[in-house]
Amino acid sequence: MTTPPPVLRRARTAVLLLGVLFLASACGWSLWDSPMTTVRPRSDFGRAIDEIFMLISWTTLVIFIIVEVGLLYCCWRFRERPGAPIPKQVHGHTPLEVSWTIGFAVILLIIGIPTIKIIFKTQEAPAATALPVDVKGHQWWWEFAYPGLNFTTANEVHLPVGQTVAFRLHAPDVIHSFWIPVLGGKRDVVPHRVNQIVLTPEAPGEYYGQCAEYCGISHANMRFRVIVHPKGEFEQWVKAQQAPPVESTDALAQQGKEIFAKSACVGCHTIAGVSAGQIGPNLTHFASRRTFAGSLMQTTAPNLVQWIEDPGHMKPGALMPNLGMAGDRSKALAAYLLSLK
Ligand code: CUA
Repeated sequence: MTTPPPVLRRARTAVLLLGVLFLASACGWSLWDSPMTTVRPRSDFGRAIDEIFMLISWTTLVIFIIVEVGLLYCCWRFRERPGAPIPKQVHGHTPLEVSWTIGFAVILLIIGIPTIKIIFKTQEAPAATALPVDVKGHQWWWEFAYPGLNFTTANEVHLPVGQTVAFRLHAPDVIHSFWIPVLGGKRDVVPHRVNQIVLTPEAPGEYYGQCAEYCGISHANMRFRVIVHPKGEFEQWVKAQQAPPVESTDALAQQGKEIFAKSACVGCHTIAGVSAGQIGPNLTHFASRRTFAGSLMQTTAPNLVQWIEDPGHMKPGALMPNLGMAGDRSKALAAYLLSLK
């Protein structure tokens, strides 16, 4: 193999470097802009964590630069020269050893004191005015109950902007972890104890949540959404959730309601006025949710039909069985569920 001429080699290196830079900038951009970012916090809790992260990042960057500059300088200044004698051999240097022991202790204090302060601050009991939300992590979906407001929903939790919320975390089956990257967190959801996350969302928007503790085959499919409403809009949503479902008079939807009421669906799902099952998500206002099945799919008729016909295919290990609702029956059921606004 012949070596390419130097111009070509330089061009090749330049292209390679540009490629690496492009990839690095793409990473940086998605870190900043992705729906699961932690470096653009939108709550007091998120900002507190971000401040610590930034403090540690900048401190360690400064240390890195000082160490690298010192290292490069020493490599250059004390490099071996032809004919140079063996340098003076040094064993132990008390002032140096004392100073770097003190130096590192100071660095640890700079990082440790604010970190411990934030750990205690984010464990504080919520104020009496906080909105309580009972979160249940199930294999593999999230249940959200608003105890003061008397309704339950699934996979989508709605909050008013600027209002402190106290998430009380319950695990009926195994250990999960409740995490909304943009709003801060995360915290383990442990059977037989109630952990808590207290935070105040600071900007309206739709934020992604994810179970962050391996909890079985569909752990990755255990997602949720947090919808933070502008002032006033949250009360409207609460009123709609407290009201009985708005049903359609459409013949297909009515047929779906009959199928639902006469099938095993009622054993697991609650629809106010129709059924009282407690195992699966409450479906009273199913069609008001943007996503379903652990926030895995958009709430659309084709997705719902596919889900009803074969839940295990879309979410492996899903507790919901295949009830043999093929063809017209699944279409009717989907039409009924999509009418439950
Ligand atoms: Cu629940 Cu992972």
